[in-house]
Amino acid sequence: CREIAPLTLEINRLKREKNAVILTHSYVEPEIVYGVGDFKGDSYYLAQQAKNAHADIILFAGVVFMAETAKILSPQATVIVPDRGSGCSLADSITGDELRRLKSVYPDATVVCYINSTAEVKAESDVCVTSGNVYDIVANLPARRILFVPDRLMAQNLRAELKARGVDKDVISSDGTCMVHDEFTVAQIAEARAQFPGLKVVAHPECTREVAAAADFVGSTGAMMAYVKTTAAPYFLMLTECGLVGRLEVESPEKNFIGGCRLCPYMKLNSLEKIRDALLAPRPDQIVTLDEDIRLRASRCIERMFELTP
Ligand code: 13P
Ligand code: SF4
Repeated sequence: CREIAPLTLEINRLKREKNAVILTHSYVEPEIVYGVGDFKGDSYYLAQQAKNAHADIILFAGVVFMAETAKILSPQATVIVPDRGSGCSLADSITGDELRRLKSVYPDATVVCYINSTAEVKAESDVCVTSGNVYDIVANLPARRILFVPDRLMAQNLRAELKARGVDKDVISSDGTCMVHDEFTVAQIAEARAQFPGLKVVAHPECTREVAAAADFVGSTGAMMAYVKTTAAPYFLMLTECGLVGRLEVESPEKNFIGGCRLCPYMKLNSLEKIRDALLAPRPDQIVTLDEDIRLRASRCIERMFELTP
């Protein structure tokens, strides 16, 4: 605490001096989310905040694809990341070249990219989606054939949801998975239910189909938080990154969480020290730059998402 407080004060002073805003994904450490963050939430909410930001500097405490999204939407701002190594197993699973190859195999498909993708992949896609709007956006697209990248497991959940809604679509996907969410198992859920009667299981759509089907609620991190806050249950099992449980423990201290969450090593690369240093004098690798043609095409794909989100 003695170490955190001066750093927090210094970062908040630097933000004022430099007209900087800090966007924090719910998975980063609570001292960042609550101590220095201006906006906290899921990928969709943070993309909206990035678009509306009037700051000279946007520091994104999350992972690189989120900071790229901020740069795509706010090109006038200097967008910085505390640690350039904060990748994402989904975003890193497919390149623009690989997507171009897939598009040539399925030329009639509408290309839908999950926001957990690089700017280059977004530039090759027709519409971007997040965990919060993927089902509604895809269900309402006119095309029957959808090429969905990069999350194979979210594609499985999407197929099941479309079927449940009576929507006939052919969803083809690439082969990425989230290294955090693909590890949760149905056996883990069964064991927890046996041990904690009345347990509610809350999962992210990056989990396997089997896990999602066995959960009581599936949604974006924002929707998961809202579900827990509005649901009466003796215990909750959160099948997601532990940072979200940290947020809920702060904001809903009366709820009981039984553990079982997992850490995203990329999100955990963010720290107060790195944020302070990046605000003081960002190194070149901490500044997000994008080719203008890619940025413009990626921005059309994200703007289409804003238009199509109910
Ligand atoms: P959300 O948009 O639901 O916050 O998900 C982001 C993410 O990276 C999940 O692993
Ligand atoms: Fe990527 Fe998974 Fe980490 Fe989210 S939790 S940033 S999808 S690796």
